[in-house]
Amino acid sequence: MEAFSQLVQRAVQAFAGARTPAELEDAKAIFLGKSGELTAQMKQLASLPVDEKKARGAEINAAKQQVEAALAARRQALADAELALQLRAESLDVTLPGRRRGSGGLHPITRAMERIEAIFGSMGFEVADGPEIETDWFNFTALNTPADHPARSMHDTFYVEGGQVLRTHTSPMQIRHAVRHVKAHRAALDAGLPMPEIRVIAPGRTYRVDSDATHSPMFHQVEGLWVGENISFKDLKSVYVSFIRAFFETSNLQIRFRPSYFPFTEPSAEIDMMFGSGPLKGRWLEVSGSGQVHPQVIRNMGLDPERYIGFAFGSGIDRLAMLRYGVSDLRLFFDGDLRFLSQFK
Ligand code: PHE
Repeated sequence: MEAFSQLVQRAVQAFAGARTPAELEDAKAIFLGKSGELTAQMKQLASLPVDEKKARGAEINAAKQQVEAALAARRQALADAELALQLRAESLDVTLPGRRRGSGGLHPITRAMERIEAIFGSMGFEVADGPEIETDWFNFTALNTPADHPARSMHDTFYVEGGQVLRTHTSPMQIRHAVRHVKAHRAALDAGLPMPEIRVIAPGRTYRVDSDATHSPMFHQVEGLWVGENISFKDLKSVYVSFIRAFFETSNLQIRFRPSYFPFTEPSAEIDMMFGSGPLKGRWLEVSGSGQVHPQVIRNMGLDPERYIGFAFGSGIDRLAMLRYGVSDLRLFFDGDLRFLSQFK
């Protein structure tokens, strides 16, 4: 008869040969199952004489324990292998750099505006805001712009239903802000007391029927207004030159005031600048309209032109941004192309 050690040996081999848990269960059945080899041995015990029963039973039990231990070890080995396989399949390279959320940045026009606000803020200017859909009064009439002025033409201007216009410049903010200011100081004015000066900038969107490399139907201006009892063209020059030097971070540029005409200023000037270095060296570029506020406009603000005087300017922000960032086509600002925009982060 086969020794129990050999039976155990066969069981160990059978278990080792099982490649999957199912195969292992099949192998187990051969030895430990209901009609397995060891189970059969146990059944035979009953027919043995009493004196043999005890020794034989002990042998069977010992063999059974060994087989069970081998089965448990193989089960564990198969489970470990399965887990290792799964881990390998799902493995992550934790040394790879993570996917980050892209960080945005401010639009170059917004950056230019913030710069303008900071510089004028340092010179004591408030920042005002107003509607982009304007009435004829604020956009034209109050600014002394007669009905036959070319700026009123359908050709240049977007009219909306009800006769309102998409503001063609930020100059209506001169009137809107001054009227608010005058109202706030009505009591002092009525008592003949001096009114705190009006010193404000108003940046924002403006609209004209225009489109090429230096014009877009929607563009940005910043209006400036300083009105008091003794504000002259000299102040306009010093304020504007200081602004331009701060904006471009250089004194290596020239600024000239070229006589011009606007219905709401008298005298009027276009402000040109020329760089002393860089790609624009030696070229005059127009950056702003300006002038002494016209007496009729002062009157429309609710002030006495015999007493109050000041200057105003209106500058193209997109133009300033183009010059500062070296952008050759203004339309790039509004195409929404991230390849362009992400350069300003
Ligand atoms: N509003 C004028 C324009 O858009 C510019 C300007 C503003 C001129 C203020 C004089 C004073 O062309």
